[in-house]
Amino acid sequence: MNDTGLVSLTVRLYFINRVPAGSILTIYPLEMHTNPVIIIKSPREIEQLKRSNAIVAEVFRELRKMVVPGVTTQELDRMAEEFILSRGAIPAFKGYRNYPATLCISINEEVVHGIPGPRKLREGDIVSIDVGVNLNGYFGDAAITLPVGEVDQGAKKLLEVTEKALHIGIEMARVGNRLHDISHAIQKWVEGKGFSVVREFVGHGIGKNLHEEPQVPNFGSPGQGPRLEKGMVFALEPMVNEGSYEVRILSDGWTVVTADGKRSAHFEHTIAITDGKAEILSTL
Ligand code: MF3
Ligand code: CO
Repeated sequence: MNDTGLVSLTVRLYFINRVPAGSILTIYPLEMHTNPVIIIKSPREIEQLKRSNAIVAEVFRELRKMVVPGVTTQELDRMAEEFILSRGAIPAFKGYRNYPATLCISINEEVVHGIPGPRKLREGDIVSIDVGVNLNGYFGDAAITLPVGEVDQGAKKLLEVTEKALHIGIEMARVGNRLHDISHAIQKWVEGKGFSVVREFVGHGIGKNLHEEPQVPNFGSPGQGPRLEKGMVFALEPMVNEGSYEVRILSDGWTVVTADGKRSAHFEHTIAITDGKAEILSTL
């Protein structure tokens, strides 16, 4: 990252599509400047995306077995990388804007983009794991948050509310609705449960690029945003905080943490808009 200040500023504004609060429609990530349209995928392309996302889902099947007290986050990362390569695919995050690993692993107050390393998971932690796969040029992207051993009631509630937020969003992802109907439904559910939604990072379109138009915020007003059409493919990814929605980035340049040190959870699926209920691609 020995670029100009301007470029590194762009980089900082980038992932999961980082956007300054209050200006989500004015600052676009770099890739989005080049093609400001929502690309509609053909049934054939959706099949390709399904294959890529199936590998993501398989990685989670393996990770669920490995997430126990004492495992290091780099052990999880190594397994995921070997697994993806063994399927003839490529880890999508590694090397992306110089990100150094296959997985993003974010523990407790870490929100997203935690870098795997020698840290051991401990009983009572919650751990968010994000996986991206590139198979034949088509991208898959999903995330889950898992409890490590026994966790407290607050953690259980945070995980349940966040996973349900994702499914409420998926439920709204239908032809006839607008994009921010998804955003609004997620925000309403989460805030109704006493938690907050992160503002500075949002979901995204996905296809032949990891990040495509549109940005998919987890907050917003109903009836706003583009109309949803069959063949649109989105990565919906609510990030939910126990306390305030504010976040900051650690000095490693990646790890996003809550500003107040309270915990955060993250669930993500890649979904395709169809004639009826959206189809979840990142599942087995
Ligand atoms: N799901 C995340 C995203 O959509 C993960 C990106 S990690 C990165 O941005 F390394 F690729 F940035
Ligand atoms: Co994503």
